[in-house]
Amino acid sequence: MKTPIPLAVLLGLSITAYGICPGFNFAIGNIISLGEGVSQWNVYNSSCFVIDGLTTTKNPCTQGIFGCSPTPIFFDHYTSSITGLNYTCLRDPNSEVCGNDVISVCVRAIQFKP
Ligand SMILES: *[C@@H]1O[C@H](CO)[C@@H](O)[C@H](O)[C@H]1NC(C)=O
Ligand SMILES: *[C@@H]1O[C@H](CO)[C@@H](O)[C@H](O)[C@H]1NC(C)=O
Repeated sequence: MKTPIPLAVLLGLSITAYGICPGFNFAIGNIISLGEGVSQWNVYNSSCFVIDGLTTTKNPCTQGIFGCSPTPIFFDHYTSSITGLNYTCLRDPNSEVCGNDVISVCVRAIQFKP
């Protein structure tokens, strides 16, 4: 009996070929501590270029660019500080990285209007 190729392997191959968060617009990394209470989060495009981000000493969930889910907290919304467009975020199941920054969520344009 042949073992079917797991979907994860196929997705893994497509990640290698097409960059991080395939099928999404952007990716958001994890907290980067800059010292003295200052934290930074980068927003990457699928080639790992930093295209947006937040640097703050405050709660990143309330600074306008990111919105957060209930516990366990992750970013579930992203509003581009460049275009003002609203995006939705899903937790990245693939442990992808941009440099040393582990991707926390993948970001895509909101398709459905309420
Ligand atoms: C990511 O951004 C860089 C810099 O703006 C750009 O050169 C590159 O083409 C972008 N990649 C994608 C997949 O949009
Ligand atoms: C983006 O979506 C969130 C959640 O639906 C909403 O609270 C926020 O007002 C929206 N922002 C814009 C600029 O549409």
